[in-house]
Amino acid sequence: MNSDQRAAFITRRQFVTSSAAVLAASGFARDARANEYLVERPQQSGRGPFRVIIDTDPGVDDALALLLAMRSPELKIEAITPVAGNVPLELTLPNALRMVEIAGRADIPVAVGAKAPLMRRLVTAAYAHGENGLGGAVFPEPKIHPVNQPAAELIRQIVKRFPGEVTLLTIGPLTNIATALNLDPELAGMVRAIVMMGGSLSGGNITPAAEFNIYVDPEAARIVFQSGIPITMVGLDVTRKTSLTEEHQRQLQAGQNPVSQAAATIARNALQHNRERGFVVGPNMHDSLAVAGFIDPSLLKLKEYYIDIETTGELTAGETLGYSPNAGDLRRRPGMEKDAAATNMPIRGSAPTLASTRTSPVVRDKFVPNASVAVDVDSARFFELLIGRLSGKQ
Ligand code: BDR
Ligand code: CA
Repeated sequence: MNSDQRAAFITRRQFVTSSAAVLAASGFARDARANEYLVERPQQSGRGPFRVIIDTDPGVDDALALLLAMRSPELKIEAITPVAGNVPLELTLPNALRMVEIAGRADIPVAVGAKAPLMRRLVTAAYAHGENGLGGAVFPEPKIHPVNQPAAELIRQIVKRFPGEVTLLTIGPLTNIATALNLDPELAGMVRAIVMMGGSLSGGNITPAAEFNIYVDPEAARIVFQSGIPITMVGLDVTRKTSLTEEHQRQLQAGQNPVSQAAATIARNALQHNRERGFVVGPNMHDSLAVAGFIDPSLLKLKEYYIDIETTGELTAGETLGYSPNAGDLRRRPGMEKDAAATNMPIRGSAPTLASTRTSPVVRDKFVPNASVAVDVDSARFFELLIGRLSGKQ
């Protein structure tokens, strides 16, 4: 794959003017069925490295995602911003610092993020990541320290220093990103793109409706999805296909470098943690797939959706709703798809209750996509990239 393909993430203007643009940069993407409302997405011509900020809650898969990112020359990591999520901030912060130290990348600033979601109490996922967030894998206390600025402020400063250049790789709850957007109304217009592990159009993992990162802070997620920033959503629809195995662990163990050894230790502990709790697969490498999909977009097949977030449901808060003029009964013959999208595809909310003064459930009168959603993945090539980079073979 060439570097143009690697860089196939669209600019804001291209995203807005292309109502149904979909990544079609790769052979994988081009295999898509003709009637899937696919339009060739213009490619960015730059060669990288691409400036990124990684917002994260390590987390087993976050830890491997961070190591992957720090060993990938396509990325210029401007900052890492831990947030509360899988475990409390008191653990995600030192876990992130540990990964930076193990990778020998003390040059990357790490900034302290939010302790709690915008409007909710923190729910963690220690059931999946262990009490320490690393599946029980123990590493020494980090010697390096976070920078002085809070995460949201550092994100703001970096994006403003490099307008239009910074991609936010978000692999945790979106509290830090929403806080940064709230700090400065101009900021959204200056972010190049967001590539997110989050959401699902095929059911959740923490509730039947919601994926964990969106569930933890749905209000933050809604701010992000309504920001106008071009978003690539790498959700459970594809990350469920990235289950780590004993064989992957052995390959990491065979890698003769500190990163591979640390990844092998985390993988061994996480596999054991999963076995002890009776999980039949996993752990899934959700977050590493989002990072890998940015490094090599040909790993993913994407489709355009208007995504909105349920924030008021008693049972469903954090659900990602994906509207498409080409889904289910709404599918049209290929020649009619664009017209139908423009004229006939209102975005509907729930019907008004008798007590409501609203008269219409339409919240947008026509379909305009706000996210490219990953709908398929080449899992074998993903693991080649992940393990190749961590073990030093690639
Ligand atoms: C996401 O939630 C966390 O548990 C993982 O780190 C990943 O970011 C998967 O739903
Ligand atoms: Ca995560």
